[in-house]
Amino acid sequence: MRVLVSGGAGYIGSVTAEALLREGHEVAVLDNLSRGHRSAVPAGASLTVGDVRDREGVSALLKEWGGDCVMHFSASSLVGESMRDPGEYFGNNVVGMAALLEAMRAAGVRRIIFSSTAATYGEPEAVPIAEEAPVRPTNPYGESKAIAERMLAWYREIHGFRYAALRYFNAAGASRDHGEDHDPETHLIPLALRAAAGLPAPGSGAGAKSAAPALAVFGGDYPTPDGTCVRDYIHVLDLARAHILALERLEGLEESVFNLGNGEGYSVREVIASVERVTGRKVPVIDAPRRPGDPARLVASSARARRVLGWRPELAELDRIVADAWSWMERHPQGYGD
Ligand code: UFG
Repeated sequence: MRVLVSGGAGYIGSVTAEALLREGHEVAVLDNLSRGHRSAVPAGASLTVGDVRDREGVSALLKEWGGDCVMHFSASSLVGESMRDPGEYFGNNVVGMAALLEAMRAAGVRRIIFSSTAATYGEPEAVPIAEEAPVRPTNPYGESKAIAERMLAWYREIHGFRYAALRYFNAAGASRDHGEDHDPETHLIPLALRAAAGLPAPGSGAGAKSAAPALAVFGGDYPTPDGTCVRDYIHVLDLARAHILALERLEGLEESVFNLGNGEGYSVREVIASVERVTGRKVPVIDAPRRPGDPARLVASSARARRVLGWRPELAELDRIVADAWSWMERHPQGYGD
């Protein structure tokens, strides 16, 4: 199939674009390069530098290229940032989705696989979380994705769209050639690895030659076994595979929303211990206050994705996920270098 990958110069988008090409699909990447990297676009995919909010441009691209499906990764995706700047999240993630859906409709493209998030659930009543759990986001990021999911449901009902909304838990790890290069970097695993390696965090304001800041542990008084937040870390290659399975099954799907996680939760302190095992180095840490908007525990039930998509995480072990992220970082200490 001809798949337009919006956000294909970003982390999960570039790994999925790579996987699509490997499976024999044709890939066109659309990315505004605000946070993506030109050199993250896999060889074999074209790159159009543009924005999903440009309805006419996206529609023309889809028509001219003859796209069959869109995989929509491009979004603002940081919980903490969304608590400071909700307008960015509603503008990019909701207004962008509205424009993209209309562009698709105008071009006669009705298949879409959408990057959604565990942040749609907010503070869950029970874990592991199933898709039937209430959607009650505790931050504008989760809210923006929940609204986008509702838009998809209406486009299915009114315009006959076929879609899958994949609610990622905590994407982590790397493929051989593609990994996490965010500026600013706010995610736990890359920050813990950088702290272990003595590298400053991108966006921290520290120059390349300054010493690495200690890793801040956000909150030690959560109702969890060691007081730090628990998350479900899922290998980015497992996420990429789920997209391809969803694409193959899109026509016959009765259910449209799928959790993607391992079903295992790890606390911040357990992740730090894994980073120390994998790197053989100590992670310097400091205790810090809670980060606003962070739920205490997010762990997926992915039973539906297993049953309907035939998906199963293959790289589920935390140390393996951390080791792949570490190996990419060792080979790319400056990220993509752009
Ligand atoms: N954390 C720290 N110190 C840091 C960074 C993170 O203690 O320097 C903690 C956070 O407070 C949180 C955990 O580590 O408890 C994981 O934080 P991340 O920032 O790595 O990830 P989030 O859980 O906040 O969010 C990620 C994605 C979201 C997605 C969510 C779903 O960024 O897009 O997972 O679980 F919605």
